[in-house]
Amino acid sequence: MHIRPRRNRKNSAIRAMVEETRLHTDNLIFPVFLQDGTGIQHEISSLPGNYRWSLDKLLPAFESWMELGIRTYDLFPAVDEHLKDATGSYSYADENFYLQVIRTLKERFPEAVLMSDVALDPYSSDGHDGIYENGQILNDPTLPILGRMAVAQAQAGIDIIGPSDMMDGRVGVIRDELDEAGFTDVSIMSYTAKYASAFYGPFREALNSAPKSGDKKTYQMNPANKREALIEAELDVAEGADFLMVKPALCYLDVIHLLKENFVQPITAYNVSGECAMVYAAARNGWLDFDRTMMEMLLSIRRAGADGILTYFAPEAAKLMKA
Ligand code: PBG
Repeated sequence: MHIRPRRNRKNSAIRAMVEETRLHTDNLIFPVFLQDGTGIQHEISSLPGNYRWSLDKLLPAFESWMELGIRTYDLFPAVDEHLKDATGSYSYADENFYLQVIRTLKERFPEAVLMSDVALDPYSSDGHDGIYENGQILNDPTLPILGRMAVAQAQAGIDIIGPSDMMDGRVGVIRDELDEAGFTDVSIMSYTAKYASAFYGPFREALNSAPKSGDKKTYQMNPANKREALIEAELDVAEGADFLMVKPALCYLDVIHLLKENFVQPITAYNVSGECAMVYAAARNGWLDFDRTMMEMLLSIRRAGADGILTYFAPEAAKLMKA
């Protein structure tokens, strides 16, 4: 036996030297749920340690996350039912509390990178990402609303726009609108390959944003398809996306790998709510070791090719990496 791969595993120094993939706190993007009001810190039961925050409660928590070294945040609004309408008009209204939170965070934490979500669903009385009419999701009439939402977020100070709606042509429209409004430096992290997944359940519960009827299969991708992700990625690149995202992450590691091999843009992956909830639940039952399972998952997403990972585990992972 001349070749014994175990020699390169014989102690921790050698294992570390030959380690191919590393996870760093800089790879993490932390999704945070927001709600209007004061004194609110409502725990999402399926994602223990994750909350819907009102601004006053958020600020001290945000400071502690910054101290852990987390630098990038994806913000999601939970919108009161009475503010929702068919076109999601609250999304760009001056009084939208979400825009106020962005302004305040940018003032208080200028070094933090803030990312937004662009889609109609949290603002729509139909709970769909585009305009809903007679059972159809209308693509082109949705685009100007997405553009307007993105410009409002840019005016509030957002660094990265995250179109999660999967309408055709939205990245190009958002890029044009941002540029015309003078926001040439605002980036776009496109949800390039976003699948019609069962793993979004806890998120929709957290934001009360589930579709009121039907499903999202006419705009989100079929989990059976991989090559189709290349079409989406080509379009997003041509339309000016700065990052390409795959979502969910764990059942789609092959898609992350495919985009990494075929595109030079940075690739990100969204380790979605249902993926994290499974680990929390199993750990609570004593079936899995939380820390080790979490780190193995995050590492596997990096190994598949993701530069950045959106994950509800961000603070827990950052704590472990700091220790
Ligand atoms: C909204 C949006 C969703 C997620 C992020 N943005 C849900 C959906 O498309 O229904 C899911 C995130 C998660 O499950 O963690 N367009």
